[in-house]
Amino acid sequence: MSLVLPDGPGEVFVVRQGDRVYAYLNQCPHTGGPLDWVPDQFLNLEQDHIQCATHAALFRIRDGLCVAGPCSGDRLTAVPVRVENGDIVIRPRPDDGAAQVG
Ligand code: FES
Repeated sequence: MSLVLPDGPGEVFVVRQGDRVYAYLNQCPHTGGPLDWVPDQFLNLEQDHIQCATHAALFRIRDGLCVAGPCSGDRLTAVPVRVENGDIVIRPRPDDGAAQVG
């Protein structure tokens, strides 16, 4: 899923793998464009990488590293995220208010 945080850095999306969650800006390091061309579709068919819709770059879910495509070696911009009482809590910067996804 993706969301825009009030006064946040831009659109953020969250990927959940088991009990772990990862959040990144919806911005490809290749051109700066969004990663999803179908709303909220961020993963490849195998569901094991984040895939950019424009040039099909593949990013590891756990750290956002591009492992294939025109921006190999670059990373997605990670956004701090945690699970608190079953809710996903995103805090873009330490002094920002948190957004909660229930
Ligand atoms: S815009 Fe994402 S790989 Fe080119």
